[in-house]
Amino acid sequence: MKTGFCFSLALLAMALLSNPVRAQDAAAGKIVFAQCAACHSLDGSNGVGPSLRGIEGRKAGSFQGFHYSRALKATHYAWDAATLDAYIADPQAAIPGNVMPFSGIADKQQRDDLVAFLLTLK
Ligand code: HEC
Repeated sequence: MKTGFCFSLALLAMALLSNPVRAQDAAAGKIVFAQCAACHSLDGSNGVGPSLRGIEGRKAGSFQGFHYSRALKATHYAWDAATLDAYIADPQAAIPGNVMPFSGIADKQQRDDLVAFLLTLK
């Protein structure tokens, strides 16, 4: 019993130590998110854009109380790393006809950091 517990702790420590890049990415992504914060809250309140709370796995165009464009409502997928990356890179190319007034982030590293941050939002 005790040995098993120590083993689990060792595994946890290894997982934490072997993955420092991911945590750093999310921290950098929080800074990139400043470009989104004027329109998107993280606390569940809607502004110019829908809240991004719990965005991972959320069906596109479904957040309660927000009036989406027809294009976004007709998008039948749940947000994940790949779809977020494509949308942030070029919103009009990813979802033609959506009305997010944002031209996109060309820098792949910035998008990777930002997506890592978005996936931490619960
Ligand atoms: C000037 C305001 C504005 C800015 C800046 C902005 N957005 Fe948006 N965003 C919107 C609006 C408005 C929508 C809804 C678009 C629609 O209904 O077609 C939206 C929709 C979204 C959605 C879809 C959410 C859902 O519930 O399906 C995501 C994801 C998103 N934005 C992420 C971002 C990220 C990440 C950034 C920063 C890189 C950003 N947005 C910058 C206004 C903005």
